[in-house]
Amino acid sequence: MKVIAMCNQKGGVGKTTLTRELGCYLAHAGERVLLIDSDGQANLTRSFFENEPERGLYEAILDG
Ligand SMILES: Nc1ncnc2c1ncn2[C@@H]1O[C@H](COP(=O)(O)OP(=O)(O)OP(=O)(O)O)[C@@H](O)[C@H]1O
Ligand SMILES: [Mg+2]
Repeated sequence: MKVIAMCNQKGGVGKTTLTRELGCYLAHAGERVLLIDSDGQANLTRSFFENEPERGLYEAILDG
């Protein structure tokens, strides 16, 4: 298993977009991909579930 962490302290530099596109590319290439969105904004999660309630990793942990 390979783990790729995407992090940069600067805002708006494409972290979420690149994470999503890289994950989709690898999945289409036949890799099994799990995207873990630890950003409190949960933008990556919402990009896949646009009509779902706003729930990120923090809400999932706090709500059990
Ligand atoms: N390669 C690119 N070319 C042009 N625009 C891009 C590119 N990558 C990202 N963007 C745009 O730049 C903006 C910021 O991208 P993104 O949300 O991925 O950044 P971020 O680093 O995750 O931001 P944040 O710090 O708020 O989490 C978005 O509007 C996105 O569509
Ligand atoms: Mg982001």
